[in-house]
Amino acid sequence: MRIDNKVALVTGAAKGIGEAIAERFAEAGAHVVIFDIDGEGARAVAARICTAGKALAIEGDVAVEEHARDAVLRTVEQFGRLDILVNNAGIDVPGTLPDYTSQQWDTQLGVNLKSAFLFAKYAIPELRKRGGAIINIASVHAFASYPGNAGYDASKAGMLALTRTLALDHGHEGIRVNAICPGYVDTPMTQEWLATVPDPEATMREVLSFHPLGRIGIPRDIASAALFLASDEASFISGATLVVDGAMTVAGR
Ligand SMILES: NC(=O)c1ccc[n+]([C@@H]2O[C@H](COP(=O)([O-])OP(=O)(O)OC[C@H]3O[C@@H](n4cnc5c(N)ncnc54)[C@H](O)[C@@H]3O)[C@@H](O)[C@H]2O)c1
Repeated sequence: MRIDNKVALVTGAAKGIGEAIAERFAEAGAHVVIFDIDGEGARAVAARICTAGKALAIEGDVAVEEHARDAVLRTVEQFGRLDILVNNAGIDVPGTLPDYTSQQWDTQLGVNLKSAFLFAKYAIPELRKRGGAIINIASVHAFASYPGNAGYDASKAGMLALTRTLALDHGHEGIRVNAICPGYVDTPMTQEWLATVPDPEATMREVLSFHPLGRIGIPRDIASAALFLASDEASFISGATLVVDGAMTVAGR
């Protein structure tokens, strides 16, 4: 699965799943733009992975239109093209709706869903020049809901709908659009959530019991799926959702 000399823009790539995708893409020969609100983290990842391809760090907020537009502009200025967009940045703003504020809703949907619209809006004019791929990192929460996560779950379900429609609208331009739905993955986001529960060890044992494979995911599991979807090996795959969850959701829990 080589993507030599392709140019990839990955959002939320300073840590977790996004960092692993950036690293995996660089190993596979791509030039990678690491976009993150954590500029220092983004620069550290760029410095670490740029042994394989070239890497550029850009600091910005995925929910801000000017930042999305500038990220695409700077990518093309630096590398002359854009071939792959990964909409990965995401946050979890938990809560049940009567207590959820409009601002919380806007933040949740802004970072997780509006961002995918904004980056796709500015990336598609570049991607259509040579064909390309968009990969949206959704979640099993898009179709399997959990209590207290209405905003997050709605944002991820919206991402799957966006994936399908973009695949329809831009297939004739050679742009493939797919989504990945990870289950539990060991990232800073998961660690931060575990730190909020009363008994993290007991919760982790319960989480592991959901997984027929006996473990939760690691970021590289998701990165490998993203590399496949970005590569020519997936040239007839578009509008699809790839579930990467160690069989958690087929267990019907
Ligand atoms: N970790 C899991 O178990 C899991 C499961 C399913 C889906 N996901 C999804 O995968 C994606 C990555 O999750 P993760 O676990 O690696 O998260 P993480 O919190 O470990 O890392 C997220 C990265 O996104 C960046 N980010 C956050 N808000 C941003 C913003 N407004 N603008 C730019 N960058 C921003 C953060 O700085 C961080 O570098 C998210 O969309 C998440 O919803 C994660």
